[in-house]
Amino acid sequence: MAQLQLGDDVPDFTAETTDGPIKFHEYLGNSWGVLFSHPKDFTPVCTTELGRVAALKPEFDKRNVKVVGLSVDPLSSHKEWASDIQETQGTALNFPLIADADKSIANAYGMIHPNASDTFTVRSVYVIGPDKKLKLSLTYPASTGRNFDEVLRVIDSLQLTAKHKVATPADWKQGSDVIIVPAVKDEDAKALFPDGWKTVKPYLRIVPQPK
Ligand code: BEZ
Repeated sequence: MAQLQLGDDVPDFTAETTDGPIKFHEYLGNSWGVLFSHPKDFTPVCTTELGRVAALKPEFDKRNVKVVGLSVDPLSSHKEWASDIQETQGTALNFPLIADADKSIANAYGMIHPNASDTFTVRSVYVIGPDKKLKLSLTYPASTGRNFDEVLRVIDSLQLTAKHKVATPADWKQGSDVIIVPAVKDEDAKALFPDGWKTVKPYLRIVPQPK
């Protein structure tokens, strides 16, 4: 299938996971979702990533985000690996890890990039909105572990910009100033941002982050 693009409906599927079988869309319900793939079980970078996401689970919960991992190995292997994750990373796996041994989900999402490896998934991250549409995707090679603080930062931006007519500048973090989207004219901005804004250029208008 063609690579998933922003705004597309993400494919639904049923899967075996370390927390039992799930129907993906039903499992997400009205939550946001993060689906992320791993090249292989019992590999060092993946082990650190799963430990890190498990440690950050309260941060995902706070944002109403359900996190789901995926690796193209069988469930028996995932279960054995989970005890290594707990032992070495100090945090037990506390979210479902999909066993996609036949690679059907990996293929549906375009997680296998044949010029990188025709067998294993790359490190994909898909952020999915409550409407089941793709809001963001990231693709990392096997050699580079992801920065999950960045994933949380992006979710903060996605959730804020879904609610208010603002965009977030480079390196923005929760609580920092934001930008009024260019589509909002000054006349309309007065109603949306009654405390005013700073015009740096007519197209660059800065406001405090809306509550
Ligand atoms: C890892 O997770 O450590 C890894 C997986 C595949 C290739 C290289 C590293």
